Amino acid sequence: ADARLSEADILADPVAKIESAGGTRHPSIPLPAELFGAERRNSRGLDLGDRVVLEDTRAAVNRPMTEPAPAPTVDVAAAVARARAAFPAWQTTSVEGRAACLDRLADLLERDRDRLMAICVQEAFKTIPDAIGEVREAADFCRYYAARARATLGSVELPGPTGERNTLHLEGRGVWATIAPWNFPLAIFLGQTVAALVTGNTVVAKPAPQTPRIAAAAVALAHEAGVPRDALVLVPGGPEVGAALVGDARVQGVAFTGSTATARSIARALLADDDRPIVPLIAETGGINAMIVDSTALPEQVVADVVTSAFRSAGQRCSALRLLLVQEDIAEGLIEMLAGAMDLLTLGEAGDPRTDVGPVIDRAAYDRLMAYREQARARWVKTVAAPAEGLFVPPTLIRLDSVEALDREWFGPLLHVATWKAGALEETIARVNAKGYGLTMGLHSRIARAAEVTEAAAAVGNLYINRSMIGAVVGSQPFGGEGLSGTGPKAGGPLYLYRFCAERAVSVDT
Ligand code: NAD
Ligand code: ALA
Repeated sequence: ADARLSEADILADPVAKIESAGGTRHPSIPLPAELFGAERRNSRGLDLGDRVVLEDTRAAVNRPMTEPAPAPTVDVAAAVARARAAFPAWQTTSVEGRAACLDRLADLLERDRDRLMAICVQEAFKTIPDAIGEVREAADFCRYYAARARATLGSVELPGPTGERNTLHLEGRGVWATIAPWNFPLAIFLGQTVAALVTGNTVVAKPAPQTPRIAAAAVALAHEAGVPRDALVLVPGGPEVGAALVGDARVQGVAFTGSTATARSIARALLADDDRPIVPLIAETGGINAMIVDSTALPEQVVADVVTSAFRSAGQRCSALRLLLVQEDIAEGLIEMLAGAMDLLTLGEAGDPRTDVGPVIDRAAYDRLMAYREQARARWVKTVAAPAEGLFVPPTLIRLDSVEALDREWFGPLLHVATWKAGALEETIARVNAKGYGLTMGLHSRIARAAEVTEAAAAVGNLYINRSMIGAVVGSQPFGGEGLSGTGPKAGGPLYLYRFCAERAVSVDT
């Protein structure tokens, strides 16, 4: 049956459209108040106006782009100097004072939701559901890190012998560089930035060159929320601005999200100068994410979760499914169902509420993906029609002869499929692990033992069993990988803030 909604349905019930596009099967799960402070919020249940009047949203996101792009930075050293000078005052601002800024920022993000969504749609080609998700997740990060800061930062008394007082102080380290990708240009850009700020650091923040407007809007809101102007300095620009920033020896830590290759060059740059302090690098990178499906899985659920995981956001999520591994016995039937579901995808402009798959980010990405897709033409199992004009990469299913045949991340709506033989679950997981990435993995099975085996063997940061592999919820599903996929700690998790802190132990003989 055609699961798509008619335009009348969509207009009558935008939430239904959003859920059908996002594959949100789980009802909103209330999270404990302590995770988010008194006003509990989460990415699924956030009261951000789910029941938006769609016509208003549509008009808002499709209005002419009025936000000017900030000029690229020419003087990175001056930006670092400003943040350095602002550090002592911000560092000595109380934890409560810093956390309150994050809470106010969350309120402002919600206040300006439509404007921010519009920029995400226009600048990053976010679909409407994804643009809502961006604003929600950004607000969630602010509230969650504010609550975690209140709960964990400051000074802790530690035990010791009588006559001795031992205290551990968690403090800011200095200036952090935060460097963001274009695919979560608000949520990740702001998430790593506010984590650095709430822990008492000042920040020089570099957005991706494709998405400077949304970053500038976020920084302006942070200033409005009370973060001093020099405690958070925006440096728009491309790789050269990023390289100058991490090359500045006054930078005391780097929080980076982007490709594995860039993470490597940042790591090298931080160690290039023998006289420079050794500083922490948080790097969250890409993955070759697999979903393993055995013969007991529910095919309809698998297909829905595969479509969501591989094609939502045009496959431009680090968490997205790249390699579907189906038990041989059921592969033919499942692939046929999946092909049918792919036919139901609507490709179109990002701001059109009917769109399931929008354009990819830029011409370079389009050319790269289309060249690879063309090269794989003999192995196409299924592809779909795309609008003739625009940067639309048609969702395509590509057959592989082995797990090993996929050796890099293709950051778009290109899904690979291979089969495995009954009894080879552990071997299959080991072969996926051997790629060296470790971001997300999925399993669809109704065998409890298969879930246990996978949980024990999967070398990934986020394992999803019998559900989709995208859309980690702040505070519920701390997100981040291992191996070639990243250093940890996990964004939106209880341990994230500690990495931004200097720990100072003081022992006093009383
Ligand atoms: P990218 O690595 O090309 O760029 C990321 C950022 O690094 C940009 O701001 C860029 O200007 C900057 N940069 C580039 N070269 C630099 C250098 N030498 N020094 C300092 N900064 C430099 O990545 P992208 O194309 O923007 O984003 C897509 C990638 O991000 C994908 O690989 C995706 O998997 C990954 N990603 C990972 C996560 C995660 O949480 N693990 C989340 C989102 C995206
Ligand atoms: N946090 C993003 C997701 O889970 C990357 O899809």
